Amino acid sequence: MSLQECIPLESPDSPEPADVALPPWRETLLHAQAGLWQQVRTAGPQARVELSPRASCVLGDALQWLAMLPAGSIHAVVTDPPYGLIEYEDKDHAKLRAGRGGVWRIPPSFDGARRQPLPRFTVLGKADIASLCDFFAAFATGLLRVLVPGGHVFMAANPLLSSLAFTALQQAGLEKRGEIIRLVQTLRGGDRPKGAETEFAEISVMARSCWEPWGIFRKPCDGTVAENLRRWGTGGLRRLPGGEPFKDVIPCSPTRGREREIAPHPSLKPQRFLRQVVRASLPLGIGIIYDPFAGSGSTLAAAEALGYLAIGTERDAGYFALVRQAFDALSQLPVTER
Ligand SMILES: C[S@@+](CC[C@H](N)C(=O)[O-])C[C@H]1O[C@@H](n2cnc3c(N)ncnc32)[C@H](O)[C@@H]1O
Repeated sequence: MSLQECIPLESPDSPEPADVALPPWRETLLHAQAGLWQQVRTAGPQARVELSPRASCVLGDALQWLAMLPAGSIHAVVTDPPYGLIEYEDKDHAKLRAGRGGVWRIPPSFDGARRQPLPRFTVLGKADIASLCDFFAAFATGLLRVLVPGGHVFMAANPLLSSLAFTALQQAGLEKRGEIIRLVQTLRGGDRPKGAETEFAEISVMARSCWEPWGIFRKPCDGTVAENLRRWGTGGLRRLPGGEPFKDVIPCSPTRGREREIAPHPSLKPQRFLRQVVRASLPLGIGIIYDPFAGSGSTLAAAEALGYLAIGTERDAGYFALVRQAFDALSQLPVTER
């Protein structure tokens, strides 16, 4: 890919007109980005699909592929990992696809509307929780090696398991930089005691969840933030199009309608939310975004909509096929509703 092709698309809020000379450090960053993109999109022997000149997806395990990436080649990670560890394994996943059993809770349909299946995090025992912590520790160690200094990680979680996963990332050496609260009404929690719903009609076992936490982490900077921005293009968050800072509360309702028809993944995240996070993750709009747990490719599609370079890994062949099928429509989807 040439340097020109690698320059992010002009976004409407782009600060510089195309004919203004770039500062030398910016040109150096763009050259480095072109070289890194070549290495990243060809790393490892796994099958992959080129979704566009700016986006690719690899069929394979994230931790294995991470080990094959060159050190210091990724500028940001935006991802929604599996939290049940087993919910996306073949046995339980087959049960989800069959619509019966396993760790997936298939909510009853009502009003003619079929509700989305949810993984049951409450079935995790002590040993599962220990493996969850090990998984996130290994994941964070892999990320630290491949991120450039100042590279950010945005990671989706849920209120039950976020503290475990976030601590594992911090203990591995990533700095915690805050959390985004996505305001969203989910179907998690709020139920009456099972089998005694009438007897305890006034009780819910736990709060009905109305938010989703996203951890924000950063690989430590190389010098001050300004020095890091010039050297690596990372270290801060891109401000909103009008110049206001990126904010950590984002109201965004569940993915519905057309978006779900395009990408029927049980954990689909909405473009309206992802595009805001992905945009913030590259402060200068320069660099490569990685989604280790690509699912339907929603992060890759959000990056494409913004003109950013992005690569994902997805180990399930069915979802890998979905990435290819959904990418164009998802990245071109207009996002207006709340
Ligand atoms: C929570 S879903 C992400 C869905 C995504 N947010 C979307 O909008 O489509 C997690 C995805 O990670 C995949 N996955 C699980 N373990 C993986 C691993 N070790 N390496 C790569 N992909 C994995 C699963 O197959 C699943 O599609």
